[in-house]
Parts: sequence; structure tokens; C-alpha cells
Amino acid sequence: MTAPVKPDFILTNLDNLALQTGKIAVLVDGVAPRTRAVKRLDRLTRGAVLRVMRSDAFGKLKVGEAIELAYPSGLAADALLVVRLPRRADQDQARKAGGVIGRALGKDGCLVIADGHPRTAEVAFGLTLRAYDFANHKTGDKKDLGPVTFMVSAPEVVAAGFADLAALAEGVFFTRDLVNEPSNVLTTFEFAERLAALRDLGLEVEVLDEEQLSHLGMRLLLGVGQGSESPSKVVVMQWKGGVDDAPPLALVGKGVVFDTGGISIKPAAGMEDMTMDMGGAGVVAGVMRALALRKARANVVGLVGIVENMPDGRAQRPGDVVRSMKGDTVEVINTDAEGRLVLADVLWYAQERFNPAGIIDLATLTGAVIVALGHENTGVFSNDDDLCNAFLKAAAAEGEGAWRMPMGQAYDDKLKSRIADMMNVGGREGGAVTAAQFLKRFIKEGLPWIHLDIAGTALVKADLPLSPKGATGWGVLALNRLIRDKFEAK
Ligand code: BES
Ligand code: MN
Ligand code: ZN
Repeated sequence: MTAPVKPDFILTNLDNLALQTGKIAVLVDGVAPRTRAVKRLDRLTRGAVLRVMRSDAFGKLKVGEAIELAYPSGLAADALLVVRLPRRADQDQARKAGGVIGRALGKDGCLVIADGHPRTAEVAFGLTLRAYDFANHKTGDKKDLGPVTFMVSAPEVVAAGFADLAALAEGVFFTRDLVNEPSNVLTTFEFAERLAALRDLGLEVEVLDEEQLSHLGMRLLLGVGQGSESPSKVVVMQWKGGVDDAPPLALVGKGVVFDTGGISIKPAAGMEDMTMDMGGAGVVAGVMRALALRKARANVVGLVGIVENMPDGRAQRPGDVVRSMKGDTVEVINTDAEGRLVLADVLWYAQERFNPAGIIDLATLTGAVIVALGHENTGVFSNDDDLCNAFLKAAAAEGEGAWRMPMGQAYDDKLKSRIADMMNVGGREGGAVTAAQFLKRFIKEGLPWIHLDIAGTALVKADLPLSPKGATGWGVLALNRLIRDKFEAK
């Protein structure tokens, strides 16, 4: 990633606006109130600002949108963004306004005249998230982004309000970087190493190798990775910010660094997208990073199963029967339904070792969830209404799309196998639900559990208000909020 944008907050001073280079953005309420900043900019531009604000186009702007004046005469700036953001704007609108500025940000930076806007920290957050750029593999002119400065009436107050949001943005960027990284770079080794580096932030990180996994009996997980030259790993990340010995919340992520489908190989078209099949593990890692950076007062353990699904002479075959760590046997009908095999063993291990208060798994698990919900919503499956509703509320509050899906015995019945305890697939119909039913078989009775199928939301092909196309980091904000609201000592 190019260096992330780190906004500064300084006291409003309109004296040298004419000399300001880069871009200038000014937050305006609507047409009526002419603040000192608007008046000053209008005078410098010989009336251009008020002409913009009185235009039909400005009248039609949604809250959070902007009109850009390019190379305005009277200003040294390349552009002046007049951003429509009333003082009573909500958090979403403020973040979107920031996103508009972040998208326009160039190498010469931007001065944002926020003055006394009550949502300035949220504007800065939106700007930071949208200004993310994955340029690791672009040679030539790196377009490092210039400095971003907010002019505000109380810099210390806004900076303090922004501190947790900055930690959160760092978590999102960690997720996005991992998910955007190609699979020849983000091998199972490299992934484990990047997670081990989180030790510097105070997380306890263990990397379990194949020998240890074999001792633990994680045959389902190892079976998926046995066709790859990259050894399988499980990484355990513990953040102990809560009350001593209070049972943790467990987050479990699917970390398939590349999914060819295995012997049930995928078609060539679009297979390159399967570099993002570690998206669930990426979100778990991003949340752990954010919790550590903001020193969350909660106990949370993140566990990720890191494997590569390759076809090979040693690869698992369709029809193989494998015994899980739990003890149940699985007939592997389709080696491309590998994520659930990885998760089953890691979910079981998480429960056996940590006896968690709740467990949430994330996975780019099925194409079927994309057919059902598109790229706008993650499929949410749960055995517990309280935890599930709390999560849905947190996701809504963060503007992350999430939609609860049904579960039930009839779906579970589709997993019946002639020769083993279950098959790993339940047919095309309701494919996202039967995948969830498979996971549920590895959740202990009574333990609150949520499964998040992020196949559609982890990566998108078009820009979003708060992220450029590519990895989104979906879920980091919602999970952080859920932890803050439900699992954190106040
Ligand atoms: N990683 C895929 C699911 C996926 C598809 C993620 C598209 C992101 C975008 C998963 O391992 C998979 O291959 N699922 C199969 C399951 C089927 C064989 C039952 C699928 O969805 O086709
Ligand atoms: Mn697959
Ligand atoms: Zn997969």
C-alpha cells in the first residue's frame, strides 16, 4: 500500500487561503448561511463560490456530494471542492462527504475547511478510507498522496475524536492489503508472517504448523492443503484487553490463499479472483489489528486457517472420506467446497481450546450467496437471535450491508451421505444455506454463533463511496462496533 493518509487538525486560519496549493475543500451547509470561509473564498474567486452554491446543480446535490471548481482564478489551488454537508448531517453522510474528498485527493494534498462542523472526525475517516490505494506492484511514478489538513475550531477535540477511527482505518487497510495481494506474494508463509508481525502491537500470536495440526487431528483442513507446495497453517491471535479469565469472543476466518477448486477444478474464466479467497481471514486480522491499536477493553481471539487448494498428485480426490477433528466423518464430494472443511476444524479447535462466549466466522464461502444477495450484502446465518440482531444493528450503524438468511433441518438433510456422517456439499439449490448448515454441525449446542458469507462483499469491481475497487475490508467496522457495544468493559 502507498503510505496511508494521516489527516492533521489545525486551528482555522483563513489568512493565507489564496496561496494554498493542492486542493481546497470547504464544507457548506446549504445556500443560506455564508460563513466567514465561504465569504473569504467567494471574495478571492470574485464570486465563483456563491455562483456555485446558487446553481441548479448545487441545489440538486445530495448531502455529502460536492461540486468541484477546477483551477479557480484568484486561488493558487488546483481545485476548490464545495461540499454540501449541513451541520445536522448524519455519520453516513459525513463519511461519504469525506469519501468524495478522498477520491479527489492528489499528490499535492488537500486543505479541508471544516470549521466547526460537528462531524469533522467522521469526514476525516471517510476521506482516509477512500484515499486508500493498493500500489504495491505498480512501478514507475508512484502517486503518493499529499498531506491532508483539516481547519477546525477545536483541533485537540477533533483529533481525540479521530484517534479510534484512525485505529479502525489501519485495521481496514491491513485487511485490504492482505486481500488485494496476489497469491504468489501472499503464500501461506507470507500470510503467517504478516500476522506474526502483529506481536509488535501487543497481540499474542501463535503459528501452528502441519505437524502440530496433524497432532490436533485437523484432517479436514490438512486434506484441503495436501495438494499444495505451501504448507497449511493455523494462526491464533489473542487480544487480552478485557477482564482476566473472562471467556473471549472468537473470530474464525477462512484463509484459502488461492482456490483453484482442487481436483474439482474451476473454469479458467475469473479464476484469478480466487486470490481473495482468504478474505475471511483478512477481516479477522484487520479486526485484531484495530482492537490492539485502540487498546480495546475486551478479550478477543482470532483464529485463521491458512491453506492453498491445488490440484496435484497428492491432492485430495472427490469421494475421499476424511475424519474431522471433532470426530465426524465427511465424504468430500467436491474438492471445491473446501472452505467449509477448513472452517470446520478451526471452529472446533476454537471451541475446545478457548470455550468462547460467542463465535463468529467469516468466509468467502459460496458463489451461491452472490447469486442471492449480489455484492451489496453479506449473508448472515446464526443460531442465536440476540447475537445476530446485535450484529445486524452494528453493521447497519456502520453502513455495511448484511442480510440474515434462513437455516433449518430441511437444508441440513441435504448433507446426508451414503457412506459417511455427511457430504461436504448439498447440491446447487440453496447452496449458501447448506454450506452454513455444514458449519453448524461443528458448533457446540447452545454456543451463540454467526456465520458471515462474504463472497460477494469482500471484493468489488467498481468503486464504492468509501473504498476504491478491489478489496473492501467489509466487516472490520461492524465487528469492531459489535465488540465495542457488546463485549467491552465500559
Ligand atoms: N471460494 C469459493 C466461493 C467463491 C465464489 C468466493 C466466488 C468468491 C467468489 C468456494 O470455495 C467455492 O468454490 N464454493 C463452491 C461450492 C460448491 C462447490 C458447492 C461454489 O460456490 O461454487
Ligand atoms: Mn472452492
Ligand atoms: Zn474457496
